Amino acid sequence: MSLTAATTSTTSTTGTAATITRIPGPPGLPLVGSLLDLTRRPLRTYLDARRDYGDVVRFAAGPPGLRAEFYAVFSPEGAHQVLGSEAANFRKDNSFYDELRTSLGNGLLTSQDGDYHRQRRLIQPLFTRRRVDGYAEAVGQECGVLADRWRVVPGGVVDVAEEMSRFALRTVSRILFGADVEAAVRVVHHSFPVLGEFVLERGFAPVKVPRGWPTPANRRAAGAQRDLYAVCDRIIAERAVRRAAGVADAAGPEDLLELLTRARGEDGERLDPAELRDQVLIFLLAGHETTATSLAFALFLLAKHPEQRRRAREEADAVLAGRAPVAADLEALPYLTQVLKEAMRLYPAASQMGRRSVEESVIDGYVVPAGAQVILAPWVTHRHPDHWEQPDRFDPDRFLPEREKERHRYAWYPFGGGPRACIGQHFSMLESVLTLGALLRDFDFEAVDRGVRLGQGITLQVRSPMRVRLTPRG
Ligand code: HEM
Repeated sequence: MSLTAATTSTTSTTGTAATITRIPGPPGLPLVGSLLDLTRRPLRTYLDARRDYGDVVRFAAGPPGLRAEFYAVFSPEGAHQVLGSEAANFRKDNSFYDELRTSLGNGLLTSQDGDYHRQRRLIQPLFTRRRVDGYAEAVGQECGVLADRWRVVPGGVVDVAEEMSRFALRTVSRILFGADVEAAVRVVHHSFPVLGEFVLERGFAPVKVPRGWPTPANRRAAGAQRDLYAVCDRIIAERAVRRAAGVADAAGPEDLLELLTRARGEDGERLDPAELRDQVLIFLLAGHETTATSLAFALFLLAKHPEQRRRAREEADAVLAGRAPVAADLEALPYLTQVLKEAMRLYPAASQMGRRSVEESVIDGYVVPAGAQVILAPWVTHRHPDHWEQPDRFDPDRFLPEREKERHRYAWYPFGGGPRACIGQHFSMLESVLTLGALLRDFDFEAVDRGVRLGQGITLQVRSPMRVRLTPRG
């Protein structure tokens, strides 16, 4: 389809530049528009859309007469505008965040306005650099537990997607909630993807079946939500028992659970049990799935690329020989940091995110109407040919400091940006780089599987094994 045929030039609202009022986009299928493309293969659909229509693309989903419109923005400049410079105009009022709020509650990721500011003020002290650096010891100990288990794996083959998911869940639960969640690993790994797919389907659906109706999808999602609530309730109850018994907490008195339990609202009221559970659930999700995905891909990419693996291992050996990692090692592991950033470029865990505009705005010369559902896709921006040479190639040297400086701030934004940027960014980088270092020092890796089947839920999902063969070193 010709791009120019679908556009009309006018003068912008600011009167300074020509703008385009009819945003181009795929026609989709006669009966459902782009609904199936957006729900079943969103990442491929966005990549094709950028190639065919440019940096701002309009999608229509659903049957004629009931179509919902979505505006995807792929340029770094557009991402900066939506997340950063005009953040107040792009709120978490879109259909995905609405669905996520209903599924996971009103926690720090999903809340807005007064609720959000109160929560962020309360939680922020746990995520200062100094505070997070203090979590390195727990990360090192969890790496030790993992390495001990890997040394006795029969046949020496592990699925790094599964392994990193369990590792990240254990680590974040221990640090933020002082909890051992080993027994709940299976429930969590089953339930989050079920909810994720449900949220994505409903987010794009032009007409939503009420959640209370007993459809198979509603029942599955309600079951997953119930199971996750049970995990959170157990974490909270165990703390209450220990507190009542006067047992000093292993995670220290000031972890997230303690802060939230002691928190008082403006009138001195406590968080009610449901609010407390919502925060625990949000952090359980936000704090483990994303880090697990990044770590799994970093390991898998290294397992497939011997030259980069050799460089990474040399660095790990030089810095971490014979001892557990500490926070200060992060600065001494620049190549591993580059590897991780490159893994997050190619496989950003938050591969898409959404907002709704309050007022009309002009993005990349296109007029995006008030009330528009806007989708940002780091998956596409991270492969944008104007910003990345040979974008599909694994090349950690793209993140050499001098090359990073030359790039647009939002050409790479796996942690989002602006006022709602990820609170766990430093936590995640520290955990991931130290873990990569410790594992490379202790094991050699070789990929067993070559490709990976991906899916999309709330975050990027791995739908096939990512097996590597481990050889213990020294
Ligand atoms: C590689 C790891 C991670 C990635 C890729 C990631 C990505 C993101 C992104 C893109 C956002 C912004 C979402 C939006 O604007 O719609 C976000 C927000 C958030 N992340 Fe992360 N995240 C990671 C790790 C973590 C960790 C370890 C934690 C907690 C321990 C965490 C907790 C949160 C929270 C609570 C928010 C909401 C912050 C706010 O709105 O103030 N994330 N994350």
